[in-house]
Parts: sequence; C-alpha cells; structure tokens
Amino acid sequence: MESFLIKGGAPLHGEVTISGSKNAALPILAATLLTDEPCVIRRVPDLSDTRFMVQILQSLGATAEFENGTVTVHARKIKGYADYELVRKMRGSICIAGPLLARLRKARISLPGGCIIGARPINLHLKGFASLGVKTKIEGGYIDATVKKLVGNIMFLGGRAGPTVLGTANVMMAATLADGVTVIESAACEPEVVDVANFLNAMGAQIAGAGSPTITVTGVKKLHGAEYEVIPDRIEAATFLIAAGATNGEVTLRGARADHLRAVIDKLHEAGVAVERCGTNLIARRSGKLKPVDITTLPYSGFPTDVQAQMMSLLALAPGLSIITERIFESRFMHVSELARLGADIEIEGPSAIVKGGKPLSGAPVMASDLRASAALVIAGLAAKGTTQVNRIYHLDRGYEQMDAKLRKLGARIQRVEEK
Ligand code: EPU
Repeated sequence: MESFLIKGGAPLHGEVTISGSKNAALPILAATLLTDEPCVIRRVPDLSDTRFMVQILQSLGATAEFENGTVTVHARKIKGYADYELVRKMRGSICIAGPLLARLRKARISLPGGCIIGARPINLHLKGFASLGVKTKIEGGYIDATVKKLVGNIMFLGGRAGPTVLGTANVMMAATLADGVTVIESAACEPEVVDVANFLNAMGAQIAGAGSPTITVTGVKKLHGAEYEVIPDRIEAATFLIAAGATNGEVTLRGARADHLRAVIDKLHEAGVAVERCGTNLIARRSGKLKPVDITTLPYSGFPTDVQAQMMSLLALAPGLSIITERIFESRFMHVSELARLGADIEIEGPSAIVKGGKPLSGAPVMASDLRASAALVIAGLAAKGTTQVNRIYHLDRGYEQMDAKLRKLGARIQRVEEK
C-alpha cells in the first residue's frame, strides 16, 4: 500500500487545472449502456473509480477504451448481470441498474452494501423503479429486477436526509426509454445530476427541469450515440481552494465552475479566505486572519458533505469555536480522531463536530479512512509543522486525479512512498 509523505509549512503558490467530475462521469459512463451506438465521453478523470466503471461496462459486454481522458464506449450487445466482485468495490456501480432496466428490462446486480461513511441504502432507487413498474426481489445478496414494460409515473424520491443523487440519476436514466411521462419530485439538484441529464438529452432523451426539485422525463423509443464533455469536479476545486487558505498561499484554479461552488466560496469568505474570479479562473488567498465559522452540510445548493472533512482541517487552524454539522451521512467523522493525532482539538457531539481551532498542528503518521477524509488529512499535513505520513491513500486515488503531482507543482513537499 502507498502513503503520502508530506513536509508541511510550504504555502501553495501557482496554477492548477481542475479535472473532470468523478461523480458526474460515473453515471454518464453508465448511461452509455442505453444505446447500441458508440458514445465518446471527454474530460473523464483518470481515477481508480472511473477505470473500474470502464471495467464494469466491459464485463457487461460493451467495448470500452480509456485514453487521454476520453472514454469511448460501444454497448452494441450487453447482458444484465453484474456480480458481487465487481459491485462491492464501488458503491457508485449501482447506477448501471437504471440503464440496464431501460435497455434489457431486467437487471441482476449485487447489492452494494454500506461503507465507512454510513449505511448507504438504495431504497429510494428501488422505490423509483417500482413506480415505473419494476418488480424487484432481493435474494442471495442480489437485486433481481424485471419489468415487462417501463411506464412513466409521478413519484416522490425524497428520503430521510433529503433527495438522493445517484437515485435521481438512476431513475431518470430508466425513465428515458419508458412509455409516457415520468415526473420525479424531490429530485436531487446537484450539478452532477444536471450533467447526466444533459448527456441523456444529447443522446435524444427528453428531460426538462434537471437542477430543480422537479424533473420531467418524456419517454422516447430509442437513444442514439453522442459525444459529451464532463463538467469540472467541484469537490476537487473546493479541496484546492481550501488547501490554498490552509497553507496561506495563493492558488489559481483553471477550469473550475464558480457557479457550482457558491456555498463553499461563501463559507471560505467568512473564514477569511477570499476567492476571486479572474476571467474563467478562480484565485484563492487569505483575506486576513482565519476566523471560525459554523457549517451544516446540506443537499445542493447547500454546503456539500463531500467538502466537510477538508473544511474541518481549515477550521482547525482558525482560532475560536467552529461547529460543523453533518446532515447527509451519519458517520462521516472518521477524520476527527486522525486530525487529533496532528494536534487538532475537535469533539463530536451527535451529528456535530465542535472544532476548537487555532492549536498548532504538528506532523504525525495518520490513516485515511475514506476519500474526502484523506483529502482533509493531506490539507492538515500541508499546514502542519514537520512530517505527516498519510497512509492508505488508495482511498484518495479513487477520487483525486494525480493529487500529489498537482500539489508538487504548487510547491508542496509531498512524495508518494510505499507504506512501511
Ligand atoms: N439515501 C437513502 N436511500 C437511498 C439513497 C440514499 O436513504 O436509496 C440517503 C443516504 O443514506 C444519505 C442521503 O440519502 O443519507 C444522500 O445520499 P445520496 O443517495 O445522495 O448519495 P449517493 O448518490 O450514493 C453521491 C456521491 C457521494 C456524495 C453523495 C451526496 C457518487 C458516486 N457519490 O452518493 O460522493 O457524498 O452523493 O452528495 O456520486 C464522494 O465523492 O466522496 C462521495 C461519497
């Protein structure tokens, strides 16, 4: 296993280009199963998760190639079965269910199971499919889903913690080839859902309202091949903005979408990190001393749960009390005890973390528990005095394209080493 060795204390300076969005690319790649014609997807980030989705497409019978950020898929003839060994490695693989149901009217997919950040149920995906007429049973750890004919319907997809991102994408994909009109109420409004809808429309689907809580899909008979470019990754962008602030540097982001980052930019501003637009670039630098802020994670356009951990590292450096409340996933605080190893003073109280910021951070060996927790530990390591070893960075490689190389270009002293 590999680790990052980080010598902290160097402010980040320079320019970084933001990669394509992982969480948009995954369902978009799955959507290529909806047509027997070739599709070309550009700006796909080269990550273990996207490589893995390409493997899933191949295992279903599609030809799929990944070269220089472009994935070409031709799903001329496919099967509807994805086994445990494939699905267990990546929860996001559940988003092949919608396309398989639309194309083959059946899907047998291993249940993805939970993960470190929470239970991660798929009841809302199944509820949406059931509204379209799909019969599902769960047997031997597999979902067996069949439908004679998908028929459009009105459904409510809101859950305990609000809308579901992949659930919305999944049901929307299934509905593209249904008979009649489907209305998804309490749909997720995330930019990644909008990106999937835009790709589906480029394939000939008729989807209106993506980006709002009501999505209307008018079923069509057939979808055709399309070329598409994935949106920039707003979570990677947020991570670099925060890293600039945490190290007291100045970083220019190329290709990030400010309109997808409003809540993050607003909280950074409150915390003493200014983010300015300069043409199509974003520039982050401190505007003064770091200040404590209170944050609650919410569905889009609220503060993203995927940026909660990274923001906690920044707030650990801000003198005073910050309260971070996690409303999307029930156990997404695994980074707290690792940040404590670097000297951060953070207490968990129910769904909130109380950050008593301003204590000096000093390097230590730490363990990454999930993707965004890893990013938080890297940011803290960059700001800490001395050397931090972040172990198990395979989590980070799932979602950040060449993070170490990008950071090195910004002046960070970071190396990838074999874990001892
Ligand atoms: N939920 C249900 N039932 C469902 C589905 C979800 O109760 O059927 C609950 C979840 O337990 C959670 C909430 O609804 O409390 C939101 O989950 P959602 O379904 O929106 O999450 P997801 O679609 O599985 C995507 C991203 C996550 C990101 C979340 C929230 C992908 C591949 N993953 O997951 O990204 O945190 O949306 O924005 O798109 C990451 O990139 O690090 C990551 C975890």
